[in-house]
Amino acid sequence: MLTIKKRIAEQIVKGVKAINPEAELGVSDVAAMLEYPPDANMGDLAFPCFKLSKTLRRSPVQIAQTIAESFSDEAVARAEVVGGYFNLYLDGAYLMHHTLSEVFKKKESYGSPANGDGKTVVFDYSSPNLAKPFHIGHLGTTVIGHSLRKLHEFAGYKCVGINYVGDWGTQFGKLIVAYKKWGDRETVENGGVDALVDLYVRINNAISGNEAQGIPADPALADEARAEFCKMEQGDEENLALWRWLVKLSLKANDEIYAQLGITFDSYKGESNYTTEMPAQVQKLRDAGLLKLDDGASIVDLSEYNMPPCLILKRDGSSLYPTRDIAAAYDRKQLYDFDKAVYVTSAGQSLHFAQWFKVVELMGYDWADKLVHVPYGTVSINGAKLATRTGNVILLRDLFALATEKVAGIMEEKSPNLQDKEKIAEQIGVGAIVFYYLSNTRMKDINFVMEDALSFEGNTGPYVQYTYARACSILNRADHFGGKVVITAPEEVALAKVLSTFGEKVNEALETYEPSVIARYILSVSAAFNRFYHNCTILGAEDENVKGTRLLLTDATKQVLGNAFDLICLKKIEKI
Ligand code: ARG
Repeated sequence: MLTIKKRIAEQIVKGVKAINPEAELGVSDVAAMLEYPPDANMGDLAFPCFKLSKTLRRSPVQIAQTIAESFSDEAVARAEVVGGYFNLYLDGAYLMHHTLSEVFKKKESYGSPANGDGKTVVFDYSSPNLAKPFHIGHLGTTVIGHSLRKLHEFAGYKCVGINYVGDWGTQFGKLIVAYKKWGDRETVENGGVDALVDLYVRINNAISGNEAQGIPADPALADEARAEFCKMEQGDEENLALWRWLVKLSLKANDEIYAQLGITFDSYKGESNYTTEMPAQVQKLRDAGLLKLDDGASIVDLSEYNMPPCLILKRDGSSLYPTRDIAAAYDRKQLYDFDKAVYVTSAGQSLHFAQWFKVVELMGYDWADKLVHVPYGTVSINGAKLATRTGNVILLRDLFALATEKVAGIMEEKSPNLQDKEKIAEQIGVGAIVFYYLSNTRMKDINFVMEDALSFEGNTGPYVQYTYARACSILNRADHFGGKVVITAPEEVALAKVLSTFGEKVNEALETYEPSVIARYILSVSAAFNRFYHNCTILGAEDENVKGTRLLLTDATKQVLGNAFDLICLKKIEKI
């Protein structure tokens, strides 16, 4: 549609220049001003003339009329002036030819704005704190982050995915206490994530107490944990060896989740690396006169910017979260020379990012304006129905397993003879959760309802994956196809029209850092395709050209859905 909008825009610019040859209005300005009317009766595209009224010193209606007088384009079947709008009705045949030829010419890159120019973008996402369970709260950063990365890759950026794991901090002190008290090497080694979660839950229950389980609070354990962590910071080899082992086990457990999602990273350089790289940045802050002492701690005062101070060093001189972020950002600039660095975390960390971004700016780094924080809302789960071993955190792994199990049950009824049933059930189950999550605007707080996410009807992951598989199955049953493109039903043009807007959706998703735009686009393609499928006979069409056209549309739908699935961590399943 972008190309069509451009052609139309050229004609409109001509009309405007007829009123005033000096008018400063470019083709791309006009293309951006073209709107999709809310109602198809008002045309496929509309050009509002209100804004031009002042500079052209004509009424909007007069402007629209003048544009209409000279307008002629083969992409447009009919145009009319309504109020201050110039409404355009596209030519179905043109739209169809144009869209099909674009899709088949560009294939995997159809929809790409191709404007990345090889510029480098660094993505910091997922980044869980190790030694803690990988839970539902990590879903957002993981799938939003990965989708944003895929979107940028699709647009031609060079992308670096960094899992900035939280591999340093008191949680390791806790785990070490728990391990020394209750664990042994074999159980933990063999028990994997379960053994780690058990230790983690047990120590937290022991520290804070758990009334329901009759466990009294023992705050002294928290001191023990801090002491163990302190030993780590001072280089105690025994604790460091334990730490390395625990990090390795946690990473391995998380890798299973990433494999289910089809996510990989280019770097796992986590927080622990920056305890040593941090002093140089602290020195720079000191040299710049930015550090202030506050009750023994070092801070950067940000009151001028209406923010609380950014904490740089604790009283004991140990590093803090913002300081490590500054050191890591500096390191990434040296390593990758990024044009943009994107951080995806929950909105709860927005202040943290605003603070240290400001500090980087005050330090005079010229890349300060290249740092972008992308926040998202909270997730809750509807239902005590989801029993958890940990009481209050729901492991992503358990959620995926439950979804997979439910899908397997549904599939047993629907398609009992399917090959690779288990793998497909997992892909649909995981996909259902990802899709449910990503179809919401990222800042919205989400309440997770399992039944809704897994339904094969409704606007769900299974529904769109099923639609994709339907298109594949039709194509598999077709012999060669092609011939002359003919239009015989409105559903054909309606589908082509939706397919034609993919590129604009990709742009919008990139500009707003919103994978949800793609998820919702997938829903509209699915709806248009299913309407077409139900109202138009495809394989059984008698006329060869009609059949050929419909198969081409089916093939184009498969391509576009597939391209869009790739952008949001959805697997393309050919057979369900
Ligand atoms: N590990 C942190 C957490 O789980 C998230 C890290 C986000 N990235 C960053 N560069 N601060 O809360």
